[in-house]
Amino acid sequence: MKFEMNNGNKIPIIGVGTYLMKDEHELSQIIGESLRIGYRLIDTAAVYRNETIIGKIISNISSYNLNRDDIFITTKLSPADQGRDKCKKAIMDSLERLKLSYIDLVLIHFPGSSRSTPKSPKNPENRRGSWQDLEELQQAGIVKNIGVSNYTIRHLEELFGYAKIKPVVNQIEVHPLFHSKELIDFCKKHSIIVQAYSSLGARDGWPILSTNLTLKKMAQKYEKTVAQILLKWALQHDLCIIPKTSKVERLKSNFQIFDFELSIEDMAQINGLNENHKFCWDPEPIL
Ligand SMILES: NC(=O)c1ccc[n+]([C@@H]2O[C@H](COP(=O)([O-])OP(=O)(O)OC[C@H]3O[C@@H](n4cnc5c(N)ncnc54)[C@H](OP(=O)(O)O)[C@@H]3O)[C@@H](O)[C@H]2O)c1
Repeated sequence: MKFEMNNGNKIPIIGVGTYLMKDEHELSQIIGESLRIGYRLIDTAAVYRNETIIGKIISNISSYNLNRDDIFITTKLSPADQGRDKCKKAIMDSLERLKLSYIDLVLIHFPGSSRSTPKSPKNPENRRGSWQDLEELQQAGIVKNIGVSNYTIRHLEELFGYAKIKPVVNQIEVHPLFHSKELIDFCKKHSIIVQAYSSLGARDGWPILSTNLTLKKMAQKYEKTVAQILLKWALQHDLCIIPKTSKVERLKSNFQIFDFELSIEDMAQINGLNENHKFCWDPEPIL
């Protein structure tokens, strides 16, 4: 289950998120089990402070009867490391922590830079420098694919103005309570894959998972969990997904979403739940 990216390379449509997971035993159990279940993409980031542990776990990939090129590792450039040359050094540090000879996908985590106000001209200047570094890292074969995260249409249009290599992915917050049709359509039009994060409503999950009556009824109708309905809704919008869980049983059920189909009417009903309710950071104010 993979999508082809605009450079011809392939990306698994479902992966495991690892935000807030720093315990070695827990990560080892979750990543190990996810590989056994069939997940092939692991999503990390420099700011998650778990690259070293993930590197240790995947250095033992042959114990899962898999090769390095069977799995797909995504990491992200921290907003603290945005800018020409700084980005390159940061990604080389990630590479070392992950104990890899190449990283499958590196994303610019956020359009803003640390220690810059949202309207600071340092933000676009650093983004441009970071992108140039990423292009060079891709040309050197250290990074196979490069993309962005939390980019709005405005940030993408700016990038198109100077990019020699087009981003393959834009990883953005998408769930029924917050989804921008305009941004998703824009990415599709430019052959940029949208990878949804916080599909289950972020770290707490409760506003969507436990209180939404429409989704609860739909879960009953399809004999699925609300989490499965949410993930399927994203897949039927042709999005990639990276749900995070620290529980093995949820890892399994979050993967059991390929044996049913939401009807056109039910998709429309879920689309209608949009109330512009974000759980994560907002890139809109970033110059
Ligand atoms: N690029 C970015 O800026 C950005 C931002 C946020 C996240 N991300 C990435 O996207 C990944 C996913 O997003 P997320 O971590 O914000 O949230 P998420 O995957 O939407 O939701 C995670 C929450 O849902 C719970 N959960 C998972 N499966 C469940 C199930 N079947 N039933 C009930 N609850 C369930 C988890 O609890 P348990 O752990 O207790 O199961 C956790 O509290 C992150 O881990 C990270 O890799 C990227």
